[in-house]
Amino acid sequence: MKMKTLAAAILMAAPLTLAAFSSYAMDKVTLKLAHNLDTNHVVHQALAQMAKEISTASDGKMKLRIYPGGQMGGPRETLELLQNGALDMTKASASEMEPFSPAFSIFSLPYLFKDQAHFNKVIYGPVGHAMMAETRDKGFVSIAAYVAGTRSFYANKPIHTPADMKGMKIRVVATPTTIKLIELLGAAPAPIPFGEVYTALQQGVIDGAENNEPSYVQTRHVEVAKFYAEDQHTSVPDFLVISTKVWDKLSDEQKQILEAAAKHSETYEQELWGKEVAASRKQATEAGATFIKVDKEAFRTALAPLYDDFRKDPVRGEWLSKIENEAAQ
Ligand code: GCU
Repeated sequence: MKMKTLAAAILMAAPLTLAAFSSYAMDKVTLKLAHNLDTNHVVHQALAQMAKEISTASDGKMKLRIYPGGQMGGPRETLELLQNGALDMTKASASEMEPFSPAFSIFSLPYLFKDQAHFNKVIYGPVGHAMMAETRDKGFVSIAAYVAGTRSFYANKPIHTPADMKGMKIRVVATPTTIKLIELLGAAPAPIPFGEVYTALQQGVIDGAENNEPSYVQTRHVEVAKFYAEDQHTSVPDFLVISTKVWDKLSDEQKQILEAAAKHSETYEQELWGKEVAASRKQATEAGATFIKVDKEAFRTALAPLYDDFRKDPVRGEWLSKIENEAAQ
């Protein structure tokens, strides 16, 4: 299989990358970054821009080589490659980070953010920065966060209320919080990797999934699940992740170049995101999708027990209070 061959080649090349680090220190370095998004995705575009900036700022001495489209597997696999030292960087959604730190589970709490300003204040402020460092001892840290709009359910039949979801099989990113979320709506959670959702929908293995509009369209799920119910239950950012070992080996100058480029990639991605959502909605409608306005209150009520779970847990409860405090200020 293509993916396996590529991953194996990179595994074999890994000692060379590390050797290059120790012998040239400040000199040349190529960072390998793999992610599971399409090259049309705005996060990929922001990363491509970042690669250019890094090269220019370092006079070509520092490079970022990007492997898009899940060539090296999904975030679960690429995060493991980071831990094994076989890959330098990846992109993972907050949900995919949840198994490594409870802080990231917070983003699976429905209707957590008052508005976009509250969300931005959290992810680009002290709370977000503290979260991004949380996984340091797991072998990686995050150096940028990307907005990813809101996630809504889409299916092969219309959904207007939680009652319509009873018994439906819905794909989720496999985390305890998302699984409970689906169960509270009376549906059955199906943890399936992102890249396999299209086939699962097409073959009727699942009845629906949930995502933001750009992913709904770019994955072509729109072709096999025509009803997009705008319940907007969660806002789950993507994170740019680097291996702790690789980060620690970079010189101060290299760290500064990478940090500055990562920061600019956040701003650039935010600029692109709004336009991308509008374009995706247009494309979805042209492909025959129906956008359904739903009563969010019914979803909010059905999902309220998740908040009780979080408040009972000291660690997750504290993250929740921190985020709520950001809205109050
Ligand atoms: C979003 C997100 C991805 C994630 C995907 C998923 O599109 O940007 O990082 O992998 O959802 O549902 O798996």
